Amino acid sequence: MSTTDFDRIADQPYESTRVRRADTERRLRRVGLLGTGSDVPRTVLSNSDLERMVETSDQWIRERTGMRERRIVGPDQATSDLAIAAARRAVEQAGLAPEDIELIVVATVTPDTIFPPVACQVQHALGAQRAAGFDLSAACSGFLNALMTADSLIAGGTYDNALVIGAEVLSSITDYENRNTAVLFGDAAGAVVLGAETGQREIIDHLVGIDGSGQDLICLPAGGSRKPASAETVAKGEHFMQLEGRKVFKFAVTAICDVVGEILARNGYTIDDVDLLIPHQANLRIIEAATSKLGIDSNRVAVNIERFGNTSSASIPLALDEIVRGDRIQPGDLVCMVTFGGGLTWGASLIRW
Ligand code: ACO
Repeated sequence: MSTTDFDRIADQPYESTRVRRADTERRLRRVGLLGTGSDVPRTVLSNSDLERMVETSDQWIRERTGMRERRIVGPDQATSDLAIAAARRAVEQAGLAPEDIELIVVATVTPDTIFPPVACQVQHALGAQRAAGFDLSAACSGFLNALMTADSLIAGGTYDNALVIGAEVLSSITDYENRNTAVLFGDAAGAVVLGAETGQREIIDHLVGIDGSGQDLICLPAGGSRKPASAETVAKGEHFMQLEGRKVFKFAVTAICDVVGEILARNGYTIDDVDLLIPHQANLRIIEAATSKLGIDSNRVAVNIERFGNTSSASIPLALDEIVRGDRIQPGDLVCMVTFGGGLTWGASLIRW
């Protein structure tokens, strides 16, 4: 990627190329959240564990990322196991039976296998016999893209409800011999159930974007059709996630500020109206830089990165579920969720609780 491309992404990213219609203009039905759920593996990978694996220190990791520990799966666990557990909790909180679920959308970049989709594994395990479903990939922005997709299908009348999941086993694509990435990622799943005309917790709007000129900044080089798995790709470690941390950092801060500013403005709000901001948890310094630029107090920002690290598409629904179950959200609160990630991708959603 040329410097020119990157400067364009970081400095003036999103004007003029995106469709900018607010959801409210074409929504036929109101859509709200009925329930949330999440699951993390039991095994804790702490900073001191990582000190024994690569040349790093607890102090470096805490100061540069805000992370103290993350969860990683055991040998017999995969993404669908976490997705199924999170989904069960969300469906139970929603007060629905599995057979009531009409649509399952799973956002993931680490499915158990390239196919079948994780949505099928969730459908089977839950006994959601009436459900349609599919997986969706938009890297760390997958969950908000899945939320927007399911919301639109319900708002337009295709389905009456949907189970939306973000689930990842990033430990399966992390090189634990490379300190640049080994410390950053964890495994988790988060889920929500959406329903038509819930009368509360209503989705107001989504705004998402992509820019493929930044595709090399965060990627998994091998194992797909461009570079199928071979002894050579494995020997070169090309099945592990690669990222250019400093460039992603700069992009992330700009993307968060721009997309939050824009989704608020087009719905007639300012940052002062936001009761709770739930950002993608990739680095505490990214969150702090963006929220200080946005001008929102830290007590209105959800942060759990110290315990879970970066869990990609699971990070926002995991944080949301903790907040809901911790009673840290009140009816009427304006909630803004914001994400960024590989692709490059970014997005934000607004909910009136
Ligand atoms: N322990 C000790 N030293 C380290 C470690 C480590 N774990 N990792 C890197 N370093 C070293 C580097 O080698 C470098 O050393 P050098 O100066 O001798 O070359 C030094 O620390 C500084 O490296 P930087 O990359 O400049 O460190 P930075 O402050 O930018 O932090 C980080 C790196 C944490 C990756 C940061 O850039 C970041 O969070 N970037 C965005 C995160 C990201 O890309 N997330 C993925 C988003 S997509 C998704 O969510 C899946």
